[in-house]
Amino acid sequence: PDGRPLLGRKAVVTAGPTFEAIDPVRGLTNRSSGKQGYAIASALATLGAEVTLVSGPTGLPVPVGVSRIDVESALEMKAATEAALPADIAVLSAAVADWRIDTISGGKIKKGPGGPPTLALIENPDILAGIAAPGPNRPALVIGFAAETTELEANARAKLSRKGCDWIVGNDVSDDVFGSDGNAVLLVTRDGTESWPRQPKTAIARQLAARIADHFNAISLK
Ligand code: C5P
Repeated sequence: PDGRPLLGRKAVVTAGPTFEAIDPVRGLTNRSSGKQGYAIASALATLGAEVTLVSGPTGLPVPVGVSRIDVESALEMKAATEAALPADIAVLSAAVADWRIDTISGGKIKKGPGGPPTLALIENPDILAGIAAPGPNRPALVIGFAAETTELEANARAKLSRKGCDWIVGNDVSDDVFGSDGNAVLLVTRDGTESWPRQPKTAIARQLAARIADHFNAISLK
């Protein structure tokens, strides 16, 4: 028999940056590497979950046993994430752009005597808050991320209630997280806070996947 603890569970994971087009050749993006989210998708699959990874542009290979959906913009990421529901587990680790270009130019914007263009931005929807909102499709366990440079625990806890998710993984991004293979995090839940020391992102991912498995195990024993 297959004793993997997340067998029969469905998970959706978002990872990487988003890319918000300005015109056919230019866009707004950020420095997220996607490594932590990819490692989480991989660790959940290893424990038996059926994982859909909704990924912004990263250049990383598809983890073994994971089905990946490639997206560019926040709006595409939101649609693909919602299309992956229902799921038991949602881990939204993507660095979603807060804003997108209001009107994407159909042709390449030309340099000219009129000077530089003005780019009007509008706010992107919050994918995490939408997924965590009460409703028939809400996953049983919704996990968000908080990248902070100060007051990590207070900011992560505030995000937990503001977004309505169950757990927040907080990282201090003031030193060497973006693109790095290592990470130190706080796991913030309604029951308390745990501090996980700096270790490879793959080890953080395995620890998080094991915690997720424990969570479902505890629920099914109730
Ligand atoms: O508000 P902030 O961007 O700091 O929140 C980070 C968390 O929210 C991450 O889990 C991120 O994936 C998620 N998020 C999202 N959609 C957005 C912005 C953030 O899902 N538009």
